[in-house]
Amino acid sequence: MSSKPIGIFDSGVGGLSIWKEIQDLLPLESTLYLSDSKHAPYGPKGQKAILKLSIKNTEYLIDQGCKLIVVACNTATTNAIDYLRTNYSVPFIGIEPAIKPAALKSKTKSVGILATKGTLSSHLFHKTSRIYSNDLVVIEQVGDGIVELIEQGELNSKKMRNLLSTYLNPMIKAEIDYLVLGCTHYHFLMPILKELLPSNVNIIDSAKAVARQTKSVLKLNKLSNNVREKGSSQFYTNGTQTVIADLLKFENVMLEKLDF
Ligand code: DGL
Repeated sequence: MSSKPIGIFDSGVGGLSIWKEIQDLLPLESTLYLSDSKHAPYGPKGQKAILKLSIKNTEYLIDQGCKLIVVACNTATTNAIDYLRTNYSVPFIGIEPAIKPAALKSKTKSVGILATKGTLSSHLFHKTSRIYSNDLVVIEQVGDGIVELIEQGELNSKKMRNLLSTYLNPMIKAEIDYLVLGCTHYHFLMPILKELLPSNVNIIDSAKAVARQTKSVLKLNKLSNNVREKGSSQFYTNGTQTVIADLLKFENVMLEKLDF
């Protein structure tokens, strides 16, 4: 079992940010990444639809023999991870907006969260947010349209800049000193976000934390790969290959189109 791959899925290319951290931290592990770009964005869909897609992705990865699954999508995690953990025997790692570190570190007591509608309206997000937002102003902003642009490869277009300015300006006015990225796709916007935000605003992205958590859950379940050779990385997408291929261009990986 320990030489089997780690399965990673997202609604598209966003989870590649997590794949990269996992690969850097756990080079001996093989990974299988599933990009469900055909059904992106998940964010505006209802809970039932997000759950259905998450089940489909999970079952595909389990059928491929994955020993652990990383739900590299905040929207799928907040809407489906409880169900997945209850109904499948493989361990799951998820990702949620990291409101806790932002709340604990904020000096201005004003924090921004940029995430999808599906994440911000989920029960799981509300539960966490309630615990940490007592003495805090939390500006929640749905990132409508951002995932679609990233899936089209528009990481730095005029349209993207305008959209981000519209979403960030109220946060800047409210003097946030932390911006929590609540969607794995937004990782790729780090350079423009830094440009658009005042220099005192810290951006929290949880990709590294997810990789560390993956490492400890593998260990705990005695699933770490003990074969002393570098793992392989395989990518499947059911959307167009251009954007994913471009984001992976410096990596030595296998990319395949999947009818899914
Ligand atoms: N990467 C997904 C997330 O973290 C994007 C969701 C979407 O497809 O709208 O939420």
